[in-house]
Amino acid sequence: MARFTVLIAAVILAFVVAVPEVTAKKYTVGENKFWNPNINYTIWAQGKHFYLGDWLYFVFDRNQHNILEVNKTDYENCNADHPLVNWTRGAGRDIVTLNVTKHYYLLDGKGGCYGGMKLAVKVEKLPPPPKAAPVKSTGLVSMATGVAQFVIPFALFSVSTMRDAILRMW
Ligand SMILES: *[C@@H]1O[C@H](CO)[C@@H](O)[C@H](O)[C@H]1NC(C)=O
Ligand SMILES: *[C@@H]1O[C@H](CO)[C@@H](O)[C@H](O)[C@H]1NC(C)=O
Ligand SMILES: *[C@@H]1O[C@H](CO)[C@@H](O)[C@H](O)[C@H]1NC(C)=O
Ligand SMILES: *[C@@H]1O[C@H](CO)[C@@H](O)[C@H](O)[C@H]1NC(C)=O
Repeated sequence: MARFTVLIAAVILAFVVAVPEVTAKKYTVGENKFWNPNINYTIWAQGKHFYLGDWLYFVFDRNQHNILEVNKTDYENCNADHPLVNWTRGAGRDIVTLNVTKHYYLLDGKGGCYGGMKLAVKVEKLPPPPKAAPVKSTGLVSMATGVAQFVIPFALFSVSTMRDAILRMW
């Protein structure tokens, strides 16, 4: 009984500890308009925070567009002649993994930013977990600890009572 309670407390604790972990976010570029001309991707990116480990998901017509990473100068000039990374895989569905804290300069290389198809994002380090999370987990942990504190002595007491009863029977 006591061991079982400790086990439950440990399981609860493991879950509580796992909760504040921030998961990577997937951004569909352009939302339901995807990677297409005549969308201002600077406006799309406004107010969003891109963190290490997030990904950008590009959906587009593979015959018309692609997705290339270039440097700042080439981004500003819409020059696709010397891409740093070719993120295009061929299916018109591409993922750019934001695994470096830096500025990513991406553009449609087939049309040279055709219709304004360029996107710059700044990737930041993960922020520290929000303040509310530790408070919540502390509450749960102390609840679990409290339950364990109550149940373990009770269980021990029952065991010794039972042992005494058995001993008396002899
Ligand atoms: C997109 O929006 C930004 C911010 O409002 C603006 O500075 C930029 O000129 C716009 N780009 C185009 C191609 O309209
Ligand atoms: C970007 O690359 C071009 C061509 O290789 C180069 O001329 C330019 O100086 C580079 N710009 C930056 C900011 O690195
Ligand atoms: C990028 O890679 C794709 C898939 O390998 C290829 O078809 C395409 O020609 C490449 N584009 C550039 C500009 O290198
Ligand atoms: C980031 O991802 C790219 C493409 O998947 C990979 O080539 C590169 O090694 C990765 N960099 C780091 C620092 O993990």
